[in-house]
Amino acid sequence: MSRWTAAQRREITEAVNCSPAVCGPRPWSLRFVDGAVELCRNDRGQESLPEAVRRDRLVSCGAAAATLEIALRGRGLRTTLRLDPDHGTEVLARVTVDGGLLVTERERHLFAAVFLRHSYRRPFGEQPVNHDTCARIISEHGPDGHGVEETQVIRIDDDAGIAATARLLGYAAAALRADAGYQRDLAAWSQQESLGDFDTMPWALIRTSTRLPDQPTLVERLRRQTTLLVITSGDTRIDHLRAGVATQRVWLAAVVRGMVGSVHTQSLHLREVRAGLIEHLGLAGFPHVLMRLGHPAPMLTPPRPRRTGGWAAAR
Ligand SMILES: Cc1cc2nc3c(=O)[nH]c(=O)nc-3n(C[C@H](O)[C@H](O)[C@H](O)COP(=O)(O)O)c2cc1C
Repeated sequence: MSRWTAAQRREITEAVNCSPAVCGPRPWSLRFVDGAVELCRNDRGQESLPEAVRRDRLVSCGAAAATLEIALRGRGLRTTLRLDPDHGTEVLARVTVDGGLLVTERERHLFAAVFLRHSYRRPFGEQPVNHDTCARIISEHGPDGHGVEETQVIRIDDDAGIAATARLLGYAAAALRADAGYQRDLAAWSQQESLGDFDTMPWALIRTSTRLPDQPTLVERLRRQTTLLVITSGDTRIDHLRAGVATQRVWLAAVVRGMVGSVHTQSLHLREVRAGLIEHLGLAGFPHVLMRLGHPAPMLTPPRPRRTGGWAAAR
């Protein structure tokens, strides 16, 4: 694939722009070059952002890089993904096309899931997530391969881990809710999605309006959902990209199996919460993304139409 047609560029760009991304201007742009597509950092005017937000923007770029590879494979192209290929430049990922490929059913489904995935910020339905299915999703799509070496996706399902996570999330929600500067920035960058009764933890984006459940309630909610944590052995640019790749691949694999989910990083913006997770969960690395997965609850309202391509200045 040396030259990209306008239709191919448009189709690939639309798919990549369906990737999950932290609030704010889109952190990536695509560059179509001979035999490859590059995902570049889009950081103009963002240099003064806090470290945690810059980390989230790189994680978002990692998720977009995963989508880029899935989109190209879904179109029958054999690819190689390299993260941070020209260390330190604006190119964060390069997906090289190595020839043609017979598209497998798995790749076709993953590509379709790109357009179905969305943040599900409400309680899940009653159907539990099968433990083996969850383990398979993690082993097939998480670490080892797909540009996600040195990355782990762990499930928080033991009593002590759930209790510690609930304590730290409760602490973070109270702190972030009361932080006027943080809330001002959040309001500027994110559209107000009306959650009504669901504007509470652990699924809501933490705003001043978000209600805080008591600890036993939060523990019970965490117990009833599947909570995953994406960690990497280091805490550098390539680690943040790897965390994003793993997040998106695991999320899409869950969607393929009929699940829905959402991710949460707000609490990890507080150093003490990140450190607390490392200590209380005995992590062998740095936590980047908390992900909740489950089956959708019976539909009360029709789903909102899927975004395609177009990008609002604020999401
Ligand atoms: C790195 C990263 C961090 C995110 N952090 C949060 C978060 O803390 N809370 C939340 O509700 N959503 C979070 N999101 C989800 C985004 O808000 C969401 O992907 C975006 O608004 C697009 O909506 P969609 O997922 O429905 O397509 C995060 C996404 C990414 C990639």
